[in-house]
Amino acid sequence: MTVGTPSGRLAVFPGSFDPLTNGHVDIILRSALLFERIVVAVLVNQEKRALFTPPERIEIIRDVFCEYKNVEVDSFDGLLVDYARRRRATAVVRGIRAVSDFEYEFQMALMNRHLEPSLETVFMMPAEQYTYLSSRLIKEVFSLGGTVSGLVPPVVEDWMRRKKTAESARRSTGEK
Ligand SMILES: Nc1ncnc2c1ncn2[C@@H]1O[C@H](COP(=O)(O)OP(=O)(O)OP(=O)(O)O)[C@@H](O)[C@H]1O
Ligand SMILES: [Mg+2]
Repeated sequence: MTVGTPSGRLAVFPGSFDPLTNGHVDIILRSALLFERIVVAVLVNQEKRALFTPPERIEIIRDVFCEYKNVEVDSFDGLLVDYARRRRATAVVRGIRAVSDFEYEFQMALMNRHLEPSLETVFMMPAEQYTYLSSRLIKEVFSLGGTVSGLVPPVVEDWMRRKKTAESARRSTGEK
């Protein structure tokens, strides 16, 4: 399924997506309406406290968007502008939840413009009910036994549950 009218342009939506939340999904769907192609680019860094590995995150996002032909999932490391150049992207999409996101995003957008003047950053606001959602908060709530349904796609919830089960099995057998 292709969403909206193709405008002939490719945009990159970079992030950790650990895990993908309904806030991310909201921004991806809005971007898919504006751009011919949107590449969800999972940042690969050696984060110790990550819940999912980058390949797992990619598999999850691909699964969620398998019916959207103009949503692609990829990974990158290093400078975003280098990746965007390689992909011949015209824009970087970022989500803005609250004023607190603004300062950091503003700095990043201007730094990226300094590094690559032709790359435009496009900010998008999610639906109101997702403005308080972050991956960090999802992980925290879930690890304390709270429900995350309605806040992440069902696929993500399944993966999180399986991860938790595997984790407790590992603990009970005394593995590290
Ligand atoms: N609920 C949301 N609504 C709109 N944009 C969002 C939301 N959550 C994340 N984003 C945006 O998605 C992009 C990728 O963000 P990222 O992967 O860091 O997610 P995050 O939820 O902020 O994760 P973390 O809590 O680990 O920082 C960023 O542009 C971020 O602003
Ligand atoms: Mg973040």
